[in-house]
Amino acid sequence: MKKKILVTGGAGYIGSHTTLALLEAGYNVVVLDNLCNSSVKSLQRISTLCKIAPEFIQGDIRDRTLLDRIFTSHDISAVLHFAGLKSVGESVTTPLNYYENNVSGSINLLQAMKQAGVFDLVFSSSATVYGESKVMPIREDFPTGQPTNPYGRSKLIIEQILQDMAKSEPQWCIALLRYFNPIGAHPSGMIGEDPNGLPNNLMPYISQIAIGKLKKLSVFGRDYPTPDGTGVRDYIHVQDVAEGHLCALNAIRERNGVNIWNLGTGVGYSVLEIIKAFELASGRTVPFQVIQRRSGDIAECWAAPEKAAKELGWTAKRSLPEMMSDTWRWQQKSPNGYRD
Ligand code: NAD
Ligand code: UFG
Repeated sequence: MKKKILVTGGAGYIGSHTTLALLEAGYNVVVLDNLCNSSVKSLQRISTLCKIAPEFIQGDIRDRTLLDRIFTSHDISAVLHFAGLKSVGESVTTPLNYYENNVSGSINLLQAMKQAGVFDLVFSSSATVYGESKVMPIREDFPTGQPTNPYGRSKLIIEQILQDMAKSEPQWCIALLRYFNPIGAHPSGMIGEDPNGLPNNLMPYISQIAIGKLKKLSVFGRDYPTPDGTGVRDYIHVQDVAEGHLCALNAIRERNGVNIWNLGTGVGYSVLEIIKAFELASGRTVPFQVIQRRSGDIAECWAAPEKAAKELGWTAKRSLPEMMSDTWRWQQKSPNGYRD
């Protein structure tokens, strides 16, 4: 009997793409998700795509009894931990929810893993932990900064907990994957990002304009010290992010302690460049207006991807036009996400 991988938050955007990649690579997968920001339809579509269904348990990472039951009834060898709340704005208005879900939930999971003797963990962190770096590209050995909101702080706190834990208990093998800006969708257009309500992030906002659900993009500031004055980010295809997890899972088998890897492309694009690239891929116009900066935003942020290339043998392969056309295919096939 093959050992299983537990994927928390596996019905969500990045978790679903990674679950599919795991199944395609021959892993047995158990998904634990409370569906607070996702739909079971993502898992059904995964089964259609690869003809294998992941085992699905609807439940919460804060439920210790459930976690213990999962670890005793399944032969789990490693955990990919995606589950958590991720909206920056919401985290400012409901910080306790964020700390409870993300921090307490992670502690609960770690305690259950320890009790079960499962010590391989891949954690979804974020480039937000670097704060506002003055130097680009950002390397993993740069000091972490001051995230500007409770969401970002929850990621940094979990990172610090993992560091402390691994120092005192050397049997842990942990990957902290710091994602830059995941966008795009599976090339089939069957699974993708399905934001609840008005999108907070650039890519889903643009694609909902192109499909006619939203009218006009507000570009948050054109007075940044960047080539065209708009914010620059390292956009990375979600399929590349998913593949990065498989490489990290392999790598931590031989690496105790905490290993930090950036998942980024090493190239930054501005908001205006993204609009243009999306217009090209979709053939649609994306009307926009420039408004004031969004509070908490930084001017630019892109990764140094060399450490992941050297240690994981992983690099982001997919181009910007591919990120745009895959986003557009998903948006056209499922204009209402998984609500159809
Ligand atoms: P998502 O919201 O699509 O996926 C998260 C999943 O976790 C959802 O399916 C949700 O229902 C589930 N979940 C939330 N709280 C839970 C709980 N207490 N118990 C069980 N399930 C729970 O988000 P995503 O974009 O796929 O992000 C995945 C992870 O990556 C998150 O931890 C996020 O913070 C992190 N991350 C995302 C980005 C990004 O831009 N998408 C960037 C950096 C880091
Ligand atoms: N932007 C706009 N208009 C919009 C939305 C975004 O101009 O309607 C701009 C932002 O100002 C920024 C860029 O587009 O310059 C990207 O913004 P996103 O909201 O898509 O992404 P962020 O870089 O702000 O945030 C993302 C994740 C966070 C994570 C952060 C750092 O959403 O969870 O990257 O990793 F913390």
